[in-house]
Amino acid sequence: MATLTKLDDIVSLCKRRGFIFQSSEIYGGLASCYDYGPLGSELKRNVRNAWWKSTVQMRDDVVGLDCSIFMHPLVWKASGHADKFADIVTVCKKCNVRSRVDHLANAENKKAEGLADKVCPACGAVGQFTEPMPFRLMFETQMGANVDDSMTIFLRPETAQGIFVNFRNVLDTTRIKIPFGIAQIGKSFRNEVTTKRFIFRTREFEQAEIEFFCAPGTDKQWYEHWKETRFNWYLNLGIKKENLRLRPHEKDELAHYAKACVDVEYKFPFDVDDWQELEGIANRTDFDLRQHQRGMRTLNAWYEKKGDLSKIELNSESEDYQKGPLSYFDEEGKQRFIPYVIEPSAGIDRSCLAFLVDAYDEDEVNGEKRSLLRFHPALAPVKAAIFPLVKKDGLPEIARNIYDDLKKYFSCFYDEKSAVGRRYRRQDEAGTPFCITVDGQTKEDQTVTVRERDSMKQERINISQVKQYLREKLDI
Ligand code: GAP
Repeated sequence: MATLTKLDDIVSLCKRRGFIFQSSEIYGGLASCYDYGPLGSELKRNVRNAWWKSTVQMRDDVVGLDCSIFMHPLVWKASGHADKFADIVTVCKKCNVRSRVDHLANAENKKAEGLADKVCPACGAVGQFTEPMPFRLMFETQMGANVDDSMTIFLRPETAQGIFVNFRNVLDTTRIKIPFGIAQIGKSFRNEVTTKRFIFRTREFEQAEIEFFCAPGTDKQWYEHWKETRFNWYLNLGIKKENLRLRPHEKDELAHYAKACVDVEYKFPFDVDDWQELEGIANRTDFDLRQHQRGMRTLNAWYEKKGDLSKIELNSESEDYQKGPLSYFDEEGKQRFIPYVIEPSAGIDRSCLAFLVDAYDEDEVNGEKRSLLRFHPALAPVKAAIFPLVKKDGLPEIARNIYDDLKKYFSCFYDEKSAVGRRYRRQDEAGTPFCITVDGQTKEDQTVTVRERDSMKQERINISQVKQYLREKLDI
């Protein structure tokens, strides 16, 4: 029986069971920052691993990368982030709270131009806003120990640029040929104006991005390929079809670099605007590689004259940019070009939230409410819990032996405290797919019971078969 999940249920389960905590909680917390606890860090690692497995390990045409978070400041000038990566914001004249203009709701029964009918989400005042203005989303910091030569640099707002600036390195050090992709998982940082909604939108978050390089003219076909592949990835990991959809961007929504973009959207349990972006798949054309060629030209010219690097403007593009340092020579077609790029860009934290919401369920066992997480086995933080039925008669020793053997292969949990029914409930709430119980019969015939989380069905199998049983059932 599916239940209507509330975000509050998920937040409280996450806290109660050690999935996710507020950052710096003992100091009153730091807004929009979260820490993943013992179960949450396993879940997050499993989400990362599932993404890496399907995009790098299982494919011959994608390789991995792990770039630094700090990058040369010109990277952000060339990418457009230094000048264009901003939200349009307004400040409420009554309470001084800054809001994103596109996040403001209309006042009931009022329709007016501009901001006159918009409501301040903090104090409820209507139409009391300053003129909209851009607000830069990149965090700045200083690199270098000396005041004189320290340099202003940025915390990356996306992992993608690390991939573009390594395009040549990867090409020169592998035998990979176009079409191919470079994949990366890592932290990104944005000084978001609006956070709230738990881990949905935070200022520090993790992205999983692929930049897939292809010949111009083949970009539409690869765009379709990635749309389908990424949509199916969520379905294959258990997201219900009715909670997932693809939404193409309107022209005026497109980022400055994109020719086309589609969002994989998930129906989050938010009170309003519940369909929200989980992942974006964009056709970035040859924009980024061309821009970085301009960046390289600009830096070469700067070495002659020097000056303040933070105020530098990009040089124009060279006329023969198609033959530039980031171009690609196609041996078969005997032509040189700047590759086009299709970019599937997912959020690891946002995916964790979607997987938690989608897996959450409540049912009734013997007249009592049971809350459980019906995680796909690949994502479950703990794959199997091992219990002795009672804490005597040599049962704990047998259970410990089984646990010691299984933990070499799977993430397992040993528990001998409290009644076995309560131990089952705790594992259901953690999303553990299997519980293995050692009881009196085990001593006689070397069998244990294996209880399955979703159906609660139990079967007896021999201890020697447990490892293989789990391997087959978990498909790992
Ligand atoms: N390189 C393209 C890019 O960064 P994006 O749509 O801005 O595109 C991609 O971000 C994904 O990163 C989003 O779909 C979302 O899953 C995740 N993401 C972006 N901003 C986030 C934030 N403030 N908090 C959590 N996840 C975020």
